[in-house]
Amino acid sequence: ATGRTTPLELQYRKGGTPIVCLTAYTYPIAKLLDPHVDLLLVGDSVAMVLYGHENTLGATLDMMIAHGQAVMRGAKDACVVVDMPAGSYEHSVETAVRAARRLIEETGCSAVKLEGGVDVAPQISAIVRAGIPVMGHIGLQPQSVEKEGGYKIKGKTDEDVAALIRDAEAVEKAGAFSVVIEGTIERVAADITARIGIPTIGIGASVACDGQILVIDDAIGLTVDRVPKFVKEYAKLRDMVSDAAASYAGDVRSHRFPESAHVFGLKAKGA
Ligand code: KIV
Ligand code: NA
Repeated sequence: ATGRTTPLELQYRKGGTPIVCLTAYTYPIAKLLDPHVDLLLVGDSVAMVLYGHENTLGATLDMMIAHGQAVMRGAKDACVVVDMPAGSYEHSVETAVRAARRLIEETGCSAVKLEGGVDVAPQISAIVRAGIPVMGHIGLQPQSVEKEGGYKIKGKTDEDVAALIRDAEAVEKAGAFSVVIEGTIERVAADITARIGIPTIGIGASVACDGQILVIDDAIGLTVDRVPKFVKEYAKLRDMVSDAAASYAGDVRSHRFPESAHVFGLKAKGA
């Protein structure tokens, strides 16, 4: 295949080779991840991961646009999806379409993602009708943390399972090209994956999902606050960063840095 992966190409991969997704918020990380992933999500988790907000409610449309632009500069092959932040779509279909248009037009990304099922089906339909591909997000919905009084795993009761299935089916029927399933009982995510016709992307969900996603800082061990149970750390960047800072501090304080290679003499090349 040539050119950037499209949402439709990913939709057709239902049941095939799992779809590889990670979040990205910056140019260098997007450039490093692009050769390895199918999809990069500019998640509203940026508010927590990069800005230190307590939850994702700190994300703004301007923040999502700035980071969407940075990621688009670094990624040339991955399908880039940008999260719609809290407050930009729940209140009306009109504001939702307007916000989705801004994200697409100002970043050049391929699709938007928003949280919710039955409750946001009208927004998903309207955005899709406006020609913008949408990724759904059901199960644990971080933008609802204050309403829910914390991060609660979904699908523990029959009633909750039925609601999850209704949400998954509503998102599919509204025209989403795929759906993130976050923080559910494993079997429920597997059952939904078997039940709907669009790819499910799991996070704290199930290996049976059609793809997986992790927050990049979690995956590379750079997260400095609590790391959720569903995270697998593929590197320990925290330790590398603090070791590097300690070495640098030692070198500066003992006059071991800069060395001759790092300073300009009259005859030095590039002086
Ligand atoms: O904002 C985010 O990082 C997300 C993923 C975890 C799915 O929505
Ligand atoms: Na998000």
